[in-house]
Amino acid sequence: MTYKRRDFLATTGLGCAGLLMPAFSFGQRSTTLLNELKIPPLLEGSMESGKKHYALTLQTGNSQFYPDLVTPTIGINGSYLGPTLRFKRDDNVVMQVENTLGEPTTLHWHGMHVPAKADGGPWQIIEHGASWDPEFKIMQKAATLWYHSHLMGKTGEQVYKGLAGMIIIDDEDSGTLGLPSEYGVDDIPIIVQDRRFNEDGSFNYVTSQMDIMTGLFGDTILVNGTLNAVFTPSTSKVRFRLLNAANARTFTFAFDDGRNFQQIASDGGLLEQPLELQMLELAPSERAEIVVDFGDGNPAKLISLAMADSSPNAATGMMSRMHPMNTQRLDLLSIQPNNSLQASPAIAGVLTSIQRRQESDSVRTRRFTLSMVMGMGMMGRKGNNSRGRGGMARGGGNFFINNQAMDMGIVNHQVNLGDTEIWEIFNDSMMMHPFHIHLDQFQILDRNGNSPAANEMGYKDSVKVGPGQTVRIIVRFDNFSDAESPYMYHCHILEHEDDGMMGQFIVV
Ligand code: C2O
Ligand code: CU
Ligand code: CU
Repeated sequence: MTYKRRDFLATTGLGCAGLLMPAFSFGQRSTTLLNELKIPPLLEGSMESGKKHYALTLQTGNSQFYPDLVTPTIGINGSYLGPTLRFKRDDNVVMQVENTLGEPTTLHWHGMHVPAKADGGPWQIIEHGASWDPEFKIMQKAATLWYHSHLMGKTGEQVYKGLAGMIIIDDEDSGTLGLPSEYGVDDIPIIVQDRRFNEDGSFNYVTSQMDIMTGLFGDTILVNGTLNAVFTPSTSKVRFRLLNAANARTFTFAFDDGRNFQQIASDGGLLEQPLELQMLELAPSERAEIVVDFGDGNPAKLISLAMADSSPNAATGMMSRMHPMNTQRLDLLSIQPNNSLQASPAIAGVLTSIQRRQESDSVRTRRFTLSMVMGMGMMGRKGNNSRGRGGMARGGGNFFINNQAMDMGIVNHQVNLGDTEIWEIFNDSMMMHPFHIHLDQFQILDRNGNSPAANEMGYKDSVKVGPGQTVRIIVRFDNFSDAESPYMYHCHILEHEDDGMMGQFIVV
């Protein structure tokens, strides 16, 4: 089966979006070959005096996504992205992070329950040439998490260039449920990102106010840093650990032949039962584990479905053709099963039990209103190739939580150790924002008063809040207090986060 670029362009309608961008429309590069899906190496730590040590070097490098082009990138122990960190519940770990990037950065463990000083947020800066060695105990259940740069104002750019990787946590139970669990064989990380390339092969990052307003959308898909990726199953069932590591794009995962799959986990770990689905929407930073049956031996494609235009302009009809969002069907991964497949065991009918938190456990409700500046002034500001970040984009930003843009000098909230609270998030803007909180895996109570879909009934650390919606979540502040070190909460569209849609809380 050969992959035809022309077909791809025809189905995605990239032509019109590409014309207005300084980056080339990637149809100009004909790459008809499929590339074997790269699997990030596993890093399982080395035991030293009762603690597992993980050595991570942040480095610059060159990557070859296209056969004839070199792309300057950054990565962890490699040139793009990082190894998959594997932790076991109850392990004590030491992360040894060394920064050789030539610029400051931070490394945040997204979704992990760790002390604020070990969290890797904007306060834990690692200067070039320095190292950072946080220690923590793995206290949570089996889950798929991730790690990425969280430098104030530069998270979007550093993650875009490659500073991210996957984390897998195992626990006692997760190995006994009949779930595919051989890493790289039938347990496969799927880190999905969209990118834009310049003629010379370099990544094209923010070039206009529009890129900041919608967040950065790329026209080229990378999976684990692989362009035009193909995966060859050797077992009848495969578990995909889906991570939306895009800066801004929401993916609606499905298969081109409409086959069903089972969702077994959300952001924070296993769901109570496998859930049969045909499509699954993940906003930036959300994860899901799915199990797919390829026993029929037929090839298939993992795709992202075209959805209704979700750009802020779509509502008014203005310029909606210039920067439509999530309207393209995208091919993510070709799947070509082996001729003979090893039979996989049946998956347990019950995966775990999740105690639903009660509203009555909450001692307080806090309200968070998300908003963005959306005037003609912003839209009229055309890209000038100078990153477009001058003028109104700086000194406070265009994005707010409770009318306040992120300010390192302001601790927005103080919570009490051990408290359970309801956080009510209201989206007062025209586009969806994925709201993420550090420290705890929370539960979703309701969205506009309606209980969440079955696959949102498990543990979450990011939640989609659509335009005009109010989402209530119930969150706990257990185990770690530190009056000096704040945790973050923010929109996980990285350009929004970098431009102000973030706040800080301390636990005392
Ligand atoms: Cu994925 Cu505050 O981070
Ligand atoms: Cu996080
Ligand atoms: Cu946002």
